[in-house]
Amino acid sequence: MKQIAVLASGRGSNFQAIIDAIADNTLPARCCGLVTDNPDAYAIIRANEAGIPVFIVDFSAYPSKETYERALLEVLKDLSADLYILAGYMRIVGPAIIRELEGKIINIHPALLPSFPGLHAQRQAIEYGVKVSGCTVHFVDEGMDTGPIILQAAVPVLEGDDEDQLAGRILEEEHRCLPKAARLYCEGRLTIRGTRVLIRPEEDNSPDGREIP
Ligand code: GRF
Repeated sequence: MKQIAVLASGRGSNFQAIIDAIADNTLPARCCGLVTDNPDAYAIIRANEAGIPVFIVDFSAYPSKETYERALLEVLKDLSADLYILAGYMRIVGPAIIRELEGKIINIHPALLPSFPGLHAQRQAIEYGVKVSGCTVHFVDEGMDTGPIILQAAVPVLEGDDEDQLAGRILEEEHRCLPKAARLYCEGRLTIRGTRVLIRPEEDNSPDGREIP
């Protein structure tokens, strides 16, 4: 059984989507820990309710980003998860952590990358005037929201949408895409080829290789 660690800084609704997918057996994995930089994150309550161990690495308790990142890396290594999911983790992951865990960290971003990376992606989309936006699950590399893309889902941007309305519509797709990407990872179906992620189709278990009607 694959072990998943989730990093979240706030509300944790994407973390909840992972918890729910594990509970209903659509994600064959175990969540071995929630790691947060924010002692007030609502995600902590969700972890407690689900019986998932919580590891708080309080950013404000460290004298520098470097010392914080060193402490965070120790926690992540100790967890020895197969997959680390950034689910609303609101900091850039430093190069030392990426080097150590490359290919094992995925992130959910509320825009169709490579458009609108960084903070306030939904606001950026509205201000630009795009008619379609969405979400992206991608592997994390040293850039800002630049790693190889695993899954994307599109939603319309409607006339008169404000940031919250668009964010809500995108969030529904996030909650679908993130557990699905985690499942593909846990089933060993993802291969990174340069900037591309190849997704191996589901095993065909029918006796003669044809689809069973
Ligand atoms: C989501 O929109 C996610 O894409 C972005 O931050 C938000 C976190 O929401 N990175 P939640 O904490 O999962 O509810």
